[in-house]
Amino acid sequence: MYTNRKMMAILVAFLLGLTLLSGCTPASEPAAPSEPAEPAEPAEPAAPSEPSASTGPEVGIVLPTRDEPRWVQDETRFNEALADSDYSVEILFSQGSSSNELQNVESLLTKGIKVLIICPHDGDAAAAAADAARAEGVTVISYDRLITGTESVDYYVTFDSIAVGAAQGQYLVDQAQGSDNPLYLYAGAASDNNAFLFFEGAWNVLQPKVADGTFRIINSSEAVNLQDKATLTRDEMGRIINQVTTNWDFNEARNKAESHLTSAGAADKGDVYILAPNDGTARSIADTFATDGDVTSFVVTGQDAEIASVQYIIDGRQSMTVFKDVRSLVKDSIEMALAVLDGQTPDTTGSYDNGVTDVPAKQTEVIVVDQDNVQAALIDSGYYEASQFTGL
Ligand code: GAL
Repeated sequence: MYTNRKMMAILVAFLLGLTLLSGCTPASEPAAPSEPAEPAEPAEPAAPSEPSASTGPEVGIVLPTRDEPRWVQDETRFNEALADSDYSVEILFSQGSSSNELQNVESLLTKGIKVLIICPHDGDAAAAAADAARAEGVTVISYDRLITGTESVDYYVTFDSIAVGAAQGQYLVDQAQGSDNPLYLYAGAASDNNAFLFFEGAWNVLQPKVADGTFRIINSSEAVNLQDKATLTRDEMGRIINQVTTNWDFNEARNKAESHLTSAGAADKGDVYILAPNDGTARSIADTFATDGDVTSFVVTGQDAEIASVQYIIDGRQSMTVFKDVRSLVKDSIEMALAVLDGQTPDTTGSYDNGVTDVPAKQTEVIVVDQDNVQAALIDSGYYEASQFTGL
């Protein structure tokens, strides 16, 4: 980046000098007075904005919030991956607000980015930011979460989110003994398209086990109303998600778990099974169930392999997590950005329908982690250091 940047600056300065010179030059050729007027044109090149625009970042990255370890992880991995890059990149956080997000995108557009990598706070609301970028001829890469409801999304990099939910559901099924096991369902934010994909994957695996009596749903009347339906519509899923959403907020997750346990009878407790959508909410929900005297044991899912949850898994306070190797998502999105900057068409492996268009996409697989494979999946793979944990 320093090399490239400095070279650009020298080049621009050199070009500017030339232009200015040329400007002068026409003056020395009064012969063509009319012409000389023309030479005024050279002001064009003088539009220093062009050169200065290139002093700004070529790639802008916008992430949902710093308040969740997941997205701080992505920032770290981007910085690691770009440490020796020639390209200048700026990373901004939207702090859980779509208006902040739009402001972030507008400020990056003003700085002249050519590629925007954006993980939307709210998939629908982010359409405005994508449209603003498209209007400036900037390529939009949706990152992890899909921007929905607009044509202005060029590419999408993500994990197999349906497989995340299916892995969480399967883990509960594999741990369940006998029948009539109390099942507590929790979900992500309804503004996040991934929350629907996670829930769809989990429902595909859990619904047959509710129908055959292995599980009994405790905390969602909407889910009980639909428990005989193997495949749910988006609206039907939306009704359940609205009832058990955590909004990806640790405190909301805790409050929901407390109110569900308060209204549940002892027969709905004992050895229970909990579908928690990600690690941050899983720790809050697990801690709440752990304090309820009528709960004798619980199996609780997670996602993201956050350091705190990996420690919970080692300590037996959370049962599993779904590891999404953020290094591969960062690598895929940077490769896409570089291809675009080099005028190439990025590689993709499929597409996602965002409600308006089929967005070419690249998808990464996920890995289930529990006490048995923390070492292999997270330490031996170099994702974390053993020294970051105790009792490993
Ligand atoms: C999802 C993301 C998850 C999770 C969640 C909360 O969209 O795929 O990894 O962390 O957001 O921010």
